[in-house]
Amino acid sequence: MTELLAVRDLVVNYHTQRGVVRALDGVSLSIGKGEVVGLVGESGCGKSTLARAILGVLPAPASEVKAASLSFGGENLLALASADIARRIRGRRITFIPQDPYGSLNPLFTIGQQMLDLMQWKSPLAIPARRGAWPALLTRYPAARRARDRAAILEMLEAVQIPNPEQALAKLPHELSGGQRQRIVIAMALLPQPELIIADEPTTALDVTIQAQILRLLHREVKRRQVSVLFTTHDLGTAWEICDRILVMYAGQEVEAAPTAAFFAAPRHPYTARLLQSLPRADGVAQDIPGEIPSLLSPPPGCRFHPRCAEASADCRTKRPPVTGSAHVVRCYHPLDAPGEAAA
Ligand SMILES: Nc1ncnc2c1ncn2[C@@H]1O[C@H](COP(=O)(O)OP(=O)(O)O)[C@@H](O)[C@H]1O
Ligand code: SF4
Ligand SMILES: [Mg+2]
Repeated sequence: MTELLAVRDLVVNYHTQRGVVRALDGVSLSIGKGEVVGLVGESGCGKSTLARAILGVLPAPASEVKAASLSFGGENLLALASADIARRIRGRRITFIPQDPYGSLNPLFTIGQQMLDLMQWKSPLAIPARRGAWPALLTRYPAARRARDRAAILEMLEAVQIPNPEQALAKLPHELSGGQRQRIVIAMALLPQPELIIADEPTTALDVTIQAQILRLLHREVKRRQVSVLFTTHDLGTAWEICDRILVMYAGQEVEAAPTAAFFAAPRHPYTARLLQSLPRADGVAQDIPGEIPSLLSPPPGCRFHPRCAEASADCRTKRPPVTGSAHVVRCYHPLDAPGEAAA
């Protein structure tokens, strides 16, 4: 699969009054064209930090970002000027679906105004593929393009199953239900025809029944358009439903990545194996992982899971384990056996 996004050894530290929060400790991730990748981990493990680092919206100057590479469509995002990313990439080639749709919509303007504003600045027609002078298109909004964009908006509202799209355009955000607002935000993420959508826990704030509908809808529309997605969630069940591949993080370190079926069939990292065991079973039994998630102000050295791991050895406590495997990769000195592999 052609690689669209490649993040290598991403480190993010937040400088706070309490000290340095070591939020990401050399995380690597790749996303292929048209691939839906689930970034899974418990709250505080660094999912939103990773999402924001890719979008280039970490708080400055409090955050410190380093990476061996952060490439998107063959361009090194770390080498681009922030104004260039804002103009050509963010909101256009990479779009965002936040957890809270209400927060990303302006309460004072109608849905129609906000969607037309988006299209004026971020439709593929508004931004030239090459860097250079601002086109005349950007200084005004020609009526013909506005009419075409309005038609595209109405078509997209049909695709995300908003009832009565014309009427919805005249409404203010608070006049819609939470599920409808999230459908609008999904429509706004799709309209610029992006190559990558970053969806940061997009259904967490919704009722369970609505969550399932929205997930199905998002999956159908991105697959139809062959858009890649980085989908963050703390819920393995959600990742199972819509992701082609899963990457699990623990306390700012990625620990395992594999195609979804292979991952669920045979997790290889002790933490992910315990995480799967901690899901409630049909008989209601769930096994919690003993111990606590470490503070990222003073995380344990080596493998950050070592204080909770029954397999931990001296290396685990001092040196971060290397990546092993190809399609199913694991960062562990003592991974569980791959299916069909003899014990070492
Ligand atoms: N702006 C910030 N300033 C300081 N610490 C932060 C900031 N944002 C996140 N953190 C810390 O970084 C860690 C990772 O947070 P986050 O990326 O939000 O995790 P997740 O999205 O997986 O819940 C947490 O310890 C969190 O407290
Ligand atoms: S590297 Fe060591 S401590 Fe970390 S999960 Fe593997 S065995 Fe456990
Ligand atoms: Mg988050």
